[in-house]
Amino acid sequence: MKGVNQRVVRTVTAFLASLIIVVGFVSIAIDEQLQASFTPILISMQKLFPSEMDDLHAKDPDIPPYNSSNVTDELKVSLSKAANQEKTVIITTLNAAWAQNNSMVDLFLKSFHIGNGTEALLRNLLIVAVDEKALNRCREIHPHCYLMKTEGVDFSGENLYMTRGYLKMMWRRLRFFGQVLERGYNFVFSDADIMWFRDPFTKFSSKADFQVASDRYRRKATNPYNKPNAGFMYVRSNEKTVDFFNFWYRSRKDYPRKNEQQVLNLLKWYEFKRRRLKFEFLDTKYFGGYCERTKDVNSVCTMHANCCELGLKAKVIDLRNTLSDWEKYKQQEKLGKGKDVLWTSPDACQNSGRR
Ligand SMILES: *[C@@H]1O[C@H](CO)[C@@H](O)[C@H](O)[C@H]1NC(C)=O
Ligand SMILES: *[C@@H]1O[C@H](CO)[C@@H](O)[C@H](O)[C@H]1NC(C)=O
Ligand SMILES: *[C@@H]1O[C@H](CO)[C@@H](O)[C@H](O)[C@H]1NC(C)=O
Ligand SMILES: *[C@@H]1O[C@H](CO)[C@@H](O)[C@H](O)[C@H]1NC(C)=O
Repeated sequence: MKGVNQRVVRTVTAFLASLIIVVGFVSIAIDEQLQASFTPILISMQKLFPSEMDDLHAKDPDIPPYNSSNVTDELKVSLSKAANQEKTVIITTLNAAWAQNNSMVDLFLKSFHIGNGTEALLRNLLIVAVDEKALNRCREIHPHCYLMKTEGVDFSGENLYMTRGYLKMMWRRLRFFGQVLERGYNFVFSDADIMWFRDPFTKFSSKADFQVASDRYRRKATNPYNKPNAGFMYVRSNEKTVDFFNFWYRSRKDYPRKNEQQVLNLLKWYEFKRRRLKFEFLDTKYFGGYCERTKDVNSVCTMHANCCELGLKAKVIDLRNTLSDWEKYKQQEKLGKGKDVLWTSPDACQNSGRR
């Protein structure tokens, strides 16, 4: 009896196992079929909206076709000087307000010096000045400076969020990123109000084409319900990212009142899938900010003064505290007590009353 029972159990188990495998394959096939049958509908829906038309048909006089084989321009020279062997550069942008003495750019550079394994990364940092004052200050304090020219616009003041000057600057900057990718360089872009404490390259995904920070992290790097914060991103240069950045830049015409980050938040739903571009969000566990601070100082790579609408003054006050928190952490870590160090709360920023 026992032998028969065992045989029955074995047969049933084998049957169930093969059933699971078959069902698995069938559902994958159905899924692909579903996707395939939805694609034409999606594409015809996209035809209704001018921005989403196929790249081949879209023309934008501000995006001349780029022939990488034959052009050596000023940007390419700057990139080649700053880049590492993998043709990767770190980029930040700077205006006169953020370039003042003892202000944002000094805190930014200081973080690289006191961070763990970050000082050497300064060799690959290209500071992109948006006005002459910022360019001059850059030249005093850093070897790699580049002036991003924009005709007829003054970016030197503290541009207020979502004003016309602000929008113009954000879109101009996005075009600049596209030009970097076109020239074959990968880049990490970091706002200057992000402190670098550990080498972020150790935490980037090896597979993604495009990784971007988010103010609040929702469990998974591929979860599209995350909201991008374009103040920190890592983009590998390839055909997909070059095409996407051109497309993203062209979309400004369809969303005249939105900034590039808000438009990315719309494009995220289907553009990446359509282009098979591997897009991921960065975990605030490593890439934190004042919106959602990295709890464990032992794992933090970068800290962003986000959720701070009061702007420059408040950010500088709070970032000074963030830097001294880090110095305290380093001392305590030597005694094996690094875990006891907590971040000082960003009061100057949060007293803005909002968020
Ligand atoms: C780019 O320039 C090279 C050298 O002048 C030329 O041979 C090539 O055909 C050009 N490619 C395109 C796509 O225009
Ligand atoms: C490509 O290089 C050739 C030779 O240096 C030059 O004559 C030509 O004008 C260049 N083309 C472009 C588009 O820059
Ligand atoms: C700012 O710093 C530079 C050196 O980096 C110095 O030459 C200049 O006098 C300083 N300006 C002010 C207003 O402190
Ligand atoms: C700095 O990095 C090294 C190597 O990863 C590590 O051994 C050391 O503990 C780190 N120091 C701090 C303060 O995090």
